[in-house]
Amino acid sequence: MPKKIYIRTFGCQMNERDSEFIAGLFLEKGYTLADSPDDADIVLFNTCSVREHAEHRAISNMGALLKIAHRKPITDKRKPKIFGIVGCMAQAMGNKLFQRLPGLDMVCGTGEIAKLPELAQKAQEKKMLATGNADKFILSRSPYYREKKDHAYVSIMRGCNNFCSYCIVPHVRGKERSRPVPDIVNEVKDIVANGIRNITLLGQNVNSYKTHDTRHKTHVFGFIDLLKEINNIDGVEKISFMTSHPKDAGIELFEAMRDLDKINRHLHLPLQSGSDRILKLMNRGYTRKKYLSLVKKAREIVPDLRLTTDIIIGFPTETGKDFNDTLSLMKEVEFNLAYIFKYSPRAGTKAARLKDDVPEATKSQRHKTLLDLQRGLYEKNNHIFINR
Ligand code: SAH
Ligand code: SF4
Ligand code: F3S
Repeated sequence: MPKKIYIRTFGCQMNERDSEFIAGLFLEKGYTLADSPDDADIVLFNTCSVREHAEHRAISNMGALLKIAHRKPITDKRKPKIFGIVGCMAQAMGNKLFQRLPGLDMVCGTGEIAKLPELAQKAQEKKMLATGNADKFILSRSPYYREKKDHAYVSIMRGCNNFCSYCIVPHVRGKERSRPVPDIVNEVKDIVANGIRNITLLGQNVNSYKTHDTRHKTHVFGFIDLLKEINNIDGVEKISFMTSHPKDAGIELFEAMRDLDKINRHLHLPLQSGSDRILKLMNRGYTRKKYLSLVKKAREIVPDLRLTTDIIIGFPTETGKDFNDTLSLMKEVEFNLAYIFKYSPRAGTKAARLKDDVPEATKSQRHKTLLDLQRGLYEKNNHIFINR
């Protein structure tokens, strides 16, 4: 009987892609995928640390599974399961996870996921901890496994160098590095050969994709070059990408979105705050004015542009005036969609040194105000996309 593995993913699209990669590794070794933890011999949670809530959910859900597993007597038929925490929270918490979850067998950070089948094997004998290489590891083209039949994610880079003051990502995913062009191109060709024509290119900040084109040794190959290259691949029909950072996005990108026929005219451009004072404390590298002029240019250049964003409310020291700056900017821009998050202090980040001084009730109220605004805008603006 082949062994069965169950993987549950928390967090962003990059984590979803990592989970596919992990699933692919186990499938190559002859494992099959289980539909539920009950059914599996190995249970992995690929986790997120971006907000406290995401960590709590993973820990409490894993705690509940461990409780059930340890209550059941081990029979000959059913070998004990291996339980592992993988990914960003594993990287952030390491050994501490064994204290929080005593029944846990394995903790594997973002840089060691390629070793998971081997680690799971060893974890049958003793607890395994692997948190090295967070700065080095990069996804490769194989193994090929895709969860969906009609859409595929392609990670084009890994890590982040921006160090926005609130954000854990650079701490858990390491330094930014870009995948070589031929590797990405061949992956896209594999995807097309498997009948998928709709792809999304992923990176924490795709605009800073940078590598060298091996065909012309001196030429720096940037994100726009990559878009052109992928636009030329036969069989690809639609190319989306995320995330763009406002400090690095510009006219060149918007012109590419207009001129390349396969590019989805959707720009996810996280604003985070409409207050210059808060943007500075967040280390975002742009001002309200710069953001607004970027949006104006994008809309002038790209017909039918859909614009989405991320907002954080309740960053330390955020006053009513700062919040109103965010509110007024959102009213002015009318995003097609906005993801609105309450600030959550993350240990090890620069902002965690500031007091989390916006009261929970204020955060909730500001959160609701923006959600209500956005809901209204959604109904007002998005009906034109029905059936398109
Ligand atoms: N690389 C992307 C996304 C990173 S995480 C970018 O630059 O935008 C996705 C979103 O989570 C961020 O855009 C931000 O809005 C939110 N986020 C990150 N850290 C957070 C924190 N500590 N508290 C609340 N929201 C956070
Ligand atoms: Fe986090 Fe900022 Fe990097 Fe995005 S750009 S992953 S918000 S540090
Ligand atoms: Fe993504 Fe969460 Fe990690 S947002 S990069 S899974 S911390």
